[in-house]
Amino acid sequence: MQLSKRVAGVSYAIRGPLLLRALELEKQGVNILKLHIGNTQPFGFRAPKSFVDACVDGLESGKSHGYTHSMGGEDAREALVEYYRKRNLRFDVEHCFFGNGVSELVRLTLDVLLNPGDEVLLPSPGYPLWAAAVILAGGTPVYYYCKEDSNWEPDVEEITSLITKKTKGLVIISPNNPTGTVYGASILSEIYDVAVKNELVLFSDAIYEGIVYGETPYTAISSFGEETLCVHFSGLSKEFFGPGFRTAWACVSGVTEKNKGFIEGLYLLSSLRLSPVHPMLFGIPKVLSEGSDIAQHTGIGGRLREQRDACVRAFQDIPGLSCVTPTGALYAFPRVDVEQFGITDDERFAFDLLEETHVLVVHGRGFTWNDVDHFRITFLPSVSELTQGFEKLKKFLGRYRQT
Ligand SMILES: Cc1ncc(COP(=O)(O)O)c(C=O)c1O
Repeated sequence: MQLSKRVAGVSYAIRGPLLLRALELEKQGVNILKLHIGNTQPFGFRAPKSFVDACVDGLESGKSHGYTHSMGGEDAREALVEYYRKRNLRFDVEHCFFGNGVSELVRLTLDVLLNPGDEVLLPSPGYPLWAAAVILAGGTPVYYYCKEDSNWEPDVEEITSLITKKTKGLVIISPNNPTGTVYGASILSEIYDVAVKNELVLFSDAIYEGIVYGETPYTAISSFGEETLCVHFSGLSKEFFGPGFRTAWACVSGVTEKNKGFIEGLYLLSSLRLSPVHPMLFGIPKVLSEGSDIAQHTGIGGRLREQRDACVRAFQDIPGLSCVTPTGALYAFPRVDVEQFGITDDERFAFDLLEETHVLVVHGRGFTWNDVDHFRITFLPSVSELTQGFEKLKKFLGRYRQT
């Protein structure tokens, strides 16, 4: 059987052939250092206990055994609106949707928006879900290239030059995956103006909104006004250390009155999948009213910050590598000197690294990046685990030549 053309056009390297080979090695008893995915639980991070207790309550009492409202129960949506109100973002309860991960909500919103041939502007490098979701919705991804020597921030002139009559949406991922860059307020304000002028829907992937290390404060693009439609995505996966809960939200703001059809479409598609996972929604009022303890991990002396710093130091120290300091999220996206190592295939580089050192990373082209000169790691492991991994990487590069 042949895959449909749409499915054949998408990929997700983070869980692709490299991971499958690593799992095979693990079955043979090999210990793999998994730097390939932002999965917090294997590295000792836990979701708030009060959230777990609230979910258990719902399960034990049976109250969360049924379907809930297609958008998520009103109490959960009210808690969400209040959560953002405290962060100076204004959303309406009737315009907030809960879903099973940002991954599902991105698919739903693009399905609602796109007709065949419609274009969506996406960052390169960027998280591959977005390109896949655009393609699966029948649209065409058009990339704006973020440059390493501008700290991986977007170039507004380039974004503007890519807009055509077919452009429907513009995706911002800040803090970014894979680069870790938190976009500054001034660039976001310019991007907002471009979106308003061209009537583009702004998709703001804010799943890492709470994970910033202090150099650049986080700004939500939806905070700049109400003059265009904006969808703000976030959830429990990162800041709340609960990626396995598959619980997330999409909050629509801006010209909602003029775009009632968009909200109705989202309601329809949310209804088609019946409801978000109810047992997790049951704990939402509790967890959102209490907030996360992320600041203790990202502040000075905090675990994530120390790990980020260890990572930056290692990439300064290893000959042939360099890296822009990630100011948010859980990843670094180092550059590899392709001439020094004779690299023509970055996936092969990652495979060679895996086979020789048992360190699993993802090659740069897995992140809608065209060149073979980068790879991505997560700095979720402890400093001592990371240091061991970086020592192996250094030795490996000391003798590596691909061609
Ligand atoms: C930028 C970005 N967006 C979305 C997601 C998916 O989030 P969720 O776990 O809520 O589906 C991820 C997951 O790593 C991500 O990095």
